[in-house]
Amino acid sequence: MGSMSFRGRWVVLTGASAGLGREMAKILARDYGANLVLVARRENRLRELADELEAFGVSTAVVSADLAIEDDVQRVFDESIAGRSIYGVILNAGITHFGHHDELSFEAFKKMLALNVTSSTQLMGLFSTYLEREGEHGGMLIVSSLAGLTPVAYQAAYSGTKAFLVNYACSLHHEMGKRGVSITTVTPGGIATEMTAGDRFDALRKWLMPADRCAADCLQAFEKRLYLHTPGTMYRWGTKLTKLVPERFFVGRVAAEYRKSLEGR
Ligand SMILES: NC(=O)c1ccc[n+]([C@@H]2O[C@H](COP(=O)([O-])OP(=O)(O)OC[C@H]3O[C@@H](n4cnc5c(N)ncnc54)[C@H](OP(=O)(O)O)[C@@H]3O)[C@@H](O)[C@H]2O)c1
Repeated sequence: MGSMSFRGRWVVLTGASAGLGREMAKILARDYGANLVLVARRENRLRELADELEAFGVSTAVVSADLAIEDDVQRVFDESIAGRSIYGVILNAGITHFGHHDELSFEAFKKMLALNVTSSTQLMGLFSTYLEREGEHGGMLIVSSLAGLTPVAYQAAYSGTKAFLVNYACSLHHEMGKRGVSITTVTPGGIATEMTAGDRFDALRKWLMPADRCAADCLQAFEKRLYLHTPGTMYRWGTKLTKLVPERFFVGRVAAEYRKSLEGR
């Protein structure tokens, strides 16, 4: 399979109402000429974004859905493919809990699991079969996190959900590549978005990557059908360098920085 070619084709993008998803939508429309199915809960935000994107001469559709609800996930798939041929799918919606693990209620944990893991698994299953059947050599981009590559204290549940995504999506890369569908996983470090806007992240803000830069980097990886990619030179090299020290030491250093940020509030 060669590179992906988005111009005039439809891409489904979850978590499009804010942050990284919103920036990817803008770049896909403006620079790649892609039509977009925009998915998130906040419909007014999606409609505003759709108007903005249509000024670039592309078509859009809005699907308002809560991806932590199983029926909504199936509806996102059904409404996305109704009357149009989908070529690309970006599974970007996700939530975290930054704080002590025992501050996260079991209900809130189940919601995180439903969104970050279960909906992504359900949508990867539905869309990978669909893209294979379409036979257009389409692809999927899965947004995990550096927290999926190593344990992260104070984001323990999130780190677990993102590790699942890395392992699941990278496994599917090999299964689906043989069937004419590419699966690319990206593992961003910190990004300046709503997710990191709270005062808990204040002391970590200097490490955050601008969302538009991260979005452009993620989309290049998607276009090239990369296997597993970390956006941003600093994060990419940092990840390689941390492999040179024992994991327990590195994870402990990050935990100390996070603890300081939490206690500094
Ligand atoms: N920010 C970071 O530092 C960072 C680092 C590495 C990886 N990531 C990953 O990047 C992705 C995007 O995060 P972000 O930083 O852009 O976060 P964000 O600004 O909080 O945006 C999250 C997006 O997900 C949507 N979403 C949340 N819950 C949803 C639900 N139940 N159903 C449907 N959509 C839902 C939100 O839309 P609605 O609220 O309108 O539903 C929003 O569009 C996530 O997977 C995150 O884990 C982020």
